[in-house]
Amino acid sequence: MTKTDILSPADITKLIKTFYDKLLVSSIKHYFVHLNLNEHLPRVDSFWNATIFPEYAYGQNLMERHAQMNLQKEDFKIWLALFWETVDELYSGENAEVTKNRAASIAYIMQKKLL
Ligand code: HEM
Repeated sequence: MTKTDILSPADITKLIKTFYDKLLVSSIKHYFVHLNLNEHLPRVDSFWNATIFPEYAYGQNLMERHAQMNLQKEDFKIWLALFWETVDELYSGENAEVTKNRAASIAYIMQKKLL
């Protein structure tokens, strides 16, 4: 099947759901298993919607949200590899590339600020 680009908020929802399905069986699942996903996933969706679609906004401080988790370098590698894998599995195009690049640059900045 030919892959399309990320074209709508519904595409973001599918991306994030598939990504979390992977996170929840990964070696970094302990960060996520206790979250209420019905509350958490819409907030993650809204962050990624704001990345791609200009009419969306995300007003939270992402660094602060991650500051108390004691994240490790290896955790970021796994998080990012699974994120990229999920995007590539589902989508192809400019928005898919923007999304992967944004994930990589934020993961890099988070590591610089938090580790
Ligand atoms: C080692 C890597 C990471 C781990 C283990 C991790 C884990 C988490 C956890 C447990 C939460 C829930 C926090 C809470 O509700 O108290 C969260 C929130 C979030 N994370 Fe991460 N994260 C990682 C990296 C990233 C990166 C690189 C990004 C963005 C590119 C990101 C985007 C988000 C977003 C958008 C939220 C939702 C914040 C909100 O509630 O508005 N995370 N993360």
